[in-house]
Amino acid sequence: MDARLSAAAAYVRPGHPAADIGCDHGKLSAWLAGSGRCPRVFACDLRPGPLAKAKVTCAPWADRVQFRLGSGLSVLKPGEATELIIAGMGAETILEILDAAPWVQDPAYNLILVPATKHSILRLGLARRGFALAGETLCQAAGRWYTVVNARFDGRTFTPGAWFCLTGLTAGQAGQAGYLAQQRPKVEKYRRGLAPGPEAEAVDELIRILKQMEGEI
Ligand SMILES: C[S@@+](CC[C@H](N)C(=O)[O-])C[C@H]1O[C@@H](n2cnc3c(N)ncnc32)[C@H](O)[C@@H]1O
Repeated sequence: MDARLSAAAAYVRPGHPAADIGCDHGKLSAWLAGSGRCPRVFACDLRPGPLAKAKVTCAPWADRVQFRLGSGLSVLKPGEATELIIAGMGAETILEILDAAPWVQDPAYNLILVPATKHSILRLGLARRGFALAGETLCQAAGRWYTVVNARFDGRTFTPGAWFCLTGLTAGQAGQAGYLAQQRPKVEKYRRGLAPGPEAEAVDELIRILKQMEGEI
């Protein structure tokens, strides 16, 4: 597993059933089942090709891994898995998946989210939906910085400030300077596609902060 998936696995509570949404190669599902961390693992993907790969990867632990074909969390019954990992998708897709499964609005579920892009938008979207950040881990994989976000529903919706959107719980972690430097061009590109409104204003503020920090990073 790469550093992202290892950091994601560390947030999985031992002894709880887990779902690996968008499992693709199936490495995380295989680790969760093979290490004994999870008694049951649901390896899930939208497409048959990736699911077939996951079946091969997970073959030694086939007694503990179930394979589900379909979109997001729609392949699970509420409660089947409490550890819900969504890794390697953009922030909007992750938020769409959460919106399509209102049953995850329950503190019993431990969400572990690894956005491929638009980390700030994920933090903003989680806060507006009442999901609180419980932890974040910065990590580098294939030369790029990622954050692994651990979140739980607590029902307290708010629109966070730009600094929170940009950094979440990553302040002080090794690699934060490199992480922020990587975010700036992406944030600016994203801003160009936004219609005027509160989200565009929040992103403008992010860009101002990043410019101010340029001398420091
Ligand atoms: C880039 S791979 C990530 C694989 C792995 N989770 C990781 O982070 O290394 C994204 C996977 O998500 C799957 N996917 C995309 N949208 C999905 C959705 N709505 N529901 C389930 N799987 C989805 C794709 O088919 C693909 O296999």
